[in-house]
Amino acid sequence: MHKTALIGGDGIGPEVVDEAMRVVAATKVPFTTSSYDLGAARYIRDKVVLPEETLAELRGFDAIMLGAIGPAIGSKEVPPGILERGLLLKLRFELDLYINHRPFITPPGGNGGRFEDVDFIVIRENTEGTYAGEGGLLRRGTAHEIATQGSVNTRFGVERAVRYAFELAKSRPRKHLTLVHKTNVLTFSGDLWQRTFDEVASEYPDVATAYNHVDAACIYMVDSPSRYDVVVTDNLFGDIITDLAGAISGGIGHAASANLNPARTGPSLFEPVHGAAHDIVGTGKANPIAAIRSAALMLEFLGEAKAAKAIFEVLGNYNPVPNMTTSEIGKEIAERVANAN
Ligand code: IPM
Ligand code: MN
Repeated sequence: MHKTALIGGDGIGPEVVDEAMRVVAATKVPFTTSSYDLGAARYIRDKVVLPEETLAELRGFDAIMLGAIGPAIGSKEVPPGILERGLLLKLRFELDLYINHRPFITPPGGNGGRFEDVDFIVIRENTEGTYAGEGGLLRRGTAHEIATQGSVNTRFGVERAVRYAFELAKSRPRKHLTLVHKTNVLTFSGDLWQRTFDEVASEYPDVATAYNHVDAACIYMVDSPSRYDVVVTDNLFGDIITDLAGAISGGIGHAASANLNPARTGPSLFEPVHGAAHDIVGTGKANPIAAIRSAALMLEFLGEAKAAKAIFEVLGNYNPVPNMTTSEIGKEIAERVANAN
């Protein structure tokens, strides 16, 4: 029995999490769910972001499924950073979710015909870099104010991300791994990443490697995405290139992610890459596929390989007819998954 915590969150988050869990139920894998009310709505109502006792409870689950966090665009009720730092990043750091595993695969409906088909995975280091929050403001608001924003890169943090990426690349047919960084300008962190990458590479002679500067990688992803199999990169570059990868592979409605603690010292967290999309709440227009794929990543990580494979296979052949609603899509995928079992 897998114990799952659900954080539907804001906007379309709860709708897509419902559909994801409907599909999980269709696999017949036994699981329990407990819902947690967190996000912008909760913050606006109670001025609460992530209470310590909630965090302590979350540590006791096998996995966390999250929908989306964020206030409506233009809302002044939640200052920037409150929910990002206080909830999403806090969970990533506190639960040591050091891998952000983001697969991109063009769905059967295509990607609008503008790009080649995409099939690669980005491994984003998820606990360090600029996201560690090193820095500060001095003499704020004066003519002499100073803002510094550092980037934290530890040998330990870089190596565990790089090793995860090599293991993943080794398990895939193409066995190819690209390091993306900006070693020509970020010479300190770049040096640490490149040396770590090269050292670990020597332990994986069967994995072919490449290096791209992040700016060039943005061109290659658009012009010739087939050059990528697995990509490993730092936290901020990973944030940026995974939005690009979502856009070229089939739209952000398909992009799934797994925030993983592969050391398994606590639960891992699964979430679609898209946000709260308050403008389409309750219209049935939200695409639940990214959340459903995230749930499949959850099953895979929980050791339910057969159930995960069933969902991936259904998604690999699934093309909703135009104007289907969120729950119609969820129901149809759930039926197909149930039949595949
Ligand atoms: C993501 C998001 C988050 C990030 C934000 C909401 C903090 O953009 O998961 O990619 O920057 O990591
Ligand atoms: Mn992002």
